[in-house]
Amino acid sequence: MKVALLDSTLREGEQSPNVSFTTAQKIKIVNALDAFGVEYIEIGHPAVSEDIKKSISVISKLETRAEKIIHSRALKSDIDDALLLDATWIGIFFGTSDISLKYKFGISHQTALKKIKYAVNYAKDNNVKIRFTAEDATRTDLSFLIEVAQIAEEAGADRFSIADTVGILTPDKTSLLVNKIKDAINIPVHIHCHNDLGLATANSVIALKSGATVADVSINGLGERSGIASLAEVAMILKLHFNIINKWNLGELIKLSEELALISGIPNRLNQPIVGKYAFTHKAGLHTKAVLKYPNSYEGYPPEMINQNREIILDKFSGKDAVADRLNKLNIHYSSEQLNKITNNIKRKRSSKSLSDIELLSFV
Ligand code: COA
Ligand code: ZN
Repeated sequence: MKVALLDSTLREGEQSPNVSFTTAQKIKIVNALDAFGVEYIEIGHPAVSEDIKKSISVISKLETRAEKIIHSRALKSDIDDALLLDATWIGIFFGTSDISLKYKFGISHQTALKKIKYAVNYAKDNNVKIRFTAEDATRTDLSFLIEVAQIAEEAGADRFSIADTVGILTPDKTSLLVNKIKDAINIPVHIHCHNDLGLATANSVIALKSGATVADVSINGLGERSGIASLAEVAMILKLHFNIINKWNLGELIKLSEELALISGIPNRLNQPIVGKYAFTHKAGLHTKAVLKYPNSYEGYPPEMINQNREIILDKFSGKDAVADRLNKLNIHYSSEQLNKITNNIKRKRSSKSLSDIELLSFV
């Protein structure tokens, strides 16, 4: 399966509350994403502010393996901004649901089609590649969405993107929708999934499995409200469950995630899949005993795959094997009677905190 990832940390990610990146931080993020190997990086929407426009002008000149894409409303002025910033790809978006047409624009379906056609045509005449996104596509009447996709293709769009703007899709609905759109047009289909129901990753992966070629992601899933699909999650699922040939450097995922948590001020949950501190931490005695013999017993994939370490913590849930393992690592010799005693003492400990080496030594 050949698919690609488009990272939108610099555009969608920066739409997270209280997040604003400096140009230097953006350059760092772009370089880190390039080291991982995402195929596309969305570098911002120039109309938002002067500082964003300036950072786009710097970033669009950076040499990267990833192709860069500039975000734009379906407006001549936004497209002109992107063209002045040497865009090779412009991502033009327009809300297509009845809600968007009525409350955002106050226009008819026919006027919307005209605006979309004009904008895509105009950008195409200027020799750039275009991804057209139907914003709120998943609440758009299907027959109208197909009309939009066909108009965008006819006007010159190179890609059509389905945006699940309010995160309302489920995996089965995603699959149906991608298939319907794919059947109606000849250009590749992209998917942009929001996480309002916690399904962004699942929906993105199923969209790719159903024939979409590119999924939008962001580092740590940053984005409006509950964010979008997480880069680490989508990449790992694709690697583990599908025959993916992309040369992604999975060993960069933790670094990317930790750096972004610092820069954005939005920390990962401790138990966040893949990148969370507890993702490979084992606690219950029956688990740790098995993991010490054969890690795969309680790990779906090895932490080494992403340069992460396995941890075995000690507290009242620990059995003798975990305690013995830690004592061995500390080079402490013990009899089986002493091991029993130490384990029992750990079980009597009141605090919910796991045992540090120093505390263990005090029990010894
Ligand atoms: N395509 C074309 N026109 C669009 C559009 C789209 N996708 N989305 C909105 N518009 C139009 C509106 O209809 C409105 O037109 P009007 O001036 O003729 O009424 C105009 O854009 C928005 O203007 P306004 O509501 O007055 O907003 P603003 O001028 O105060 O700010 C932005 C506009 C884009 C600068 C501001 O909203 C912003 O910084 N947004 C951040 C980027 C963003 O919203 N991204 C969403 C990505 S999914
Ligand atoms: Zn979005």
